[in-house]
Amino acid sequence: MRRPWWLLAFCWPGWAEARPVGDELEVWRRAPGLVSEGLREQRELKLVILSDLTQVEQDLFDAQVGSTQVYRGINLADLVERLPRPEGVDTVNLHFANGMMIPVALDGEQLGQVFIATAWKVGGGLDDHFPDVPKKKRALPDPAPITFGRNKVVVPDGQHPRVPKAAQPGFSPWFYVDTLTGLEWVASGRWERQFAAPGDVEVKRGQQVYLGRCQFCHGVAEVGATYGWDLVRPVPLYDYRRPDGLMTHVKVENAQALERGYRMPPQKDVERDEIRDLWAWMKAIALAGPNPYGD
Ligand code: HEC
Repeated sequence: MRRPWWLLAFCWPGWAEARPVGDELEVWRRAPGLVSEGLREQRELKLVILSDLTQVEQDLFDAQVGSTQVYRGINLADLVERLPRPEGVDTVNLHFANGMMIPVALDGEQLGQVFIATAWKVGGGLDDHFPDVPKKKRALPDPAPITFGRNKVVVPDGQHPRVPKAAQPGFSPWFYVDTLTGLEWVASGRWERQFAAPGDVEVKRGQQVYLGRCQFCHGVAEVGATYGWDLVRPVPLYDYRRPDGLMTHVKVENAQALERGYRMPPQKDVERDEIRDLWAWMKAIALAGPNPYGD
């Protein structure tokens, strides 16, 4: 994520106290254009300090942890309500410290289900240190648990409307997020059009598979999430993983990346046809590049 130069001044030691990761959220509007052409992505950048906002306490089931806790924090819907909303946007992309990105529609049901916790109740008191979450929904132990800064996003049912029904509840992007660091206002149609590649119906279906199963973690030529590898740069992954290899990679846990401390969660329900379409799209978008974000 790029920061404008003047922000550095505020972060310089001696100028201001460094805030713990997650107390401060960057809020910006997606700028039109192509990232690869030096686009300054963060238009109208503002900072929101979570600890300055009125907080509420809620008893919530946390799908990521698998238990119910009393959390203190703010609903995403309430936060969004307080921010000046740019014209023409219908979605807010949530950006996380680990590079994940989850779009939430401003008029959808999900907005009201996302709670940004800044503390949880333990032993009668409030604790702003959230315990690590082991990635325990895996067959193999994961050496790198999810760790949190000063906030933790709690989504009770763990669902995301973009994920295909067949993939839920086994897969949810909410299981893998860490600290929330940014909110990006976008128009969903223009956002998704960035990933449209020239080609037949296969390519078009492949783009939808990407948006439903991969976009939360993988970006395309510097657009979108950065948790997993960019699908296009520096290595076009369609070339590195042929359809069969891609099928295995998506369906089965990848033990190889264990040493690096993070792993891609398997999506066991994925169908051969989806992978064929996805691969055709990965190739088409690698060759054509993403479209500029429209104005
Ligand atoms: C929850 C996050 C997440 C999701 C969702 C996700 N990935 Fe990944 N992916 C990762 C991470 C992390 C890595 C790097 C670790 C690794 O190599 O397994 C990775 C690596 C990869 C790689 C390169 C490594 C290799 O061995 O081939 C490919 C290709 C890939 N993912 C494809 C996909 C596709 C296609 C989808 C959608 C069907 C997808 N990923 C969904 C997190 C994710």
